[in-house]
Amino acid sequence: MDGNGRWAQLRGLPRTEGHSAGEEALMDTIWGALDAGVKWLTVYAFSTENWRRPVDEVRYLMNFNERILLNRRDEMNERNVKLQFIGRRDWRVPRRLIRRIEETEALTGANTAMTVSVAFNYGGRAEIIDAVRAIVASGVKAEKIDEKLIAKHLYDPSMPEPELMVRTSGEYRTSNFLMWELAYSELVFTDVLWPDFRRENLYDAIHEYQMRERRFGGL
Ligand code: IPE
Ligand code: MG
Repeated sequence: MDGNGRWAQLRGLPRTEGHSAGEEALMDTIWGALDAGVKWLTVYAFSTENWRRPVDEVRYLMNFNERILLNRRDEMNERNVKLQFIGRRDWRVPRRLIRRIEETEALTGANTAMTVSVAFNYGGRAEIIDAVRAIVASGVKAEKIDEKLIAKHLYDPSMPEPELMVRTSGEYRTSNFLMWELAYSELVFTDVLWPDFRRENLYDAIHEYQMRERRFGGL
């Protein structure tokens, strides 16, 4: 969900106003995905690299994410959406936010219409490191390590590999997002800044996805 800062800057507003405007984009995208029959949506909310931002912005983002959770989890629950988080729940994430995350996962855990997974304090490399640590700690023999075993130790082993990844704001990078999982995903890039993103933009990306031919290394 990239481009919040630039969206605000274009309007002469503080960067935080861009984050705040991103809430409507997120909710329209979630409901749009649900209406279209998407079963799984993962959004990149805060990366392991985002701690490098000024403390004020980091603090704003922590409070903002907590507020969104509190304000939105009931409607998601009512619409049978499962809301969960992937990423490191380490000491840098405020205790209170971790509690909200745990409550939300307990509240919506049995829902079945769609899973919304929020990548928070998430890094693709960190995820692979954490998987390797768990595998080594389990004492598995080196020859037993294969793709299946690594996938089983990722943050959410039940997550299907993404069919489509959409990157907003005119950047052509994956920025440490789902490094392992995106190996065969179709990538769509759009210049739309995140606060302007709406379900129509998601549908455009899905249409583009539908024109692609996926061969997975075959012919
Ligand atoms: C994405 O928007 C939001 C987060 C990373 C939390 P940015 O804040 O990166 O916006 P730009 O890239 O500066 O425009
Ligand atoms: Mg950015």
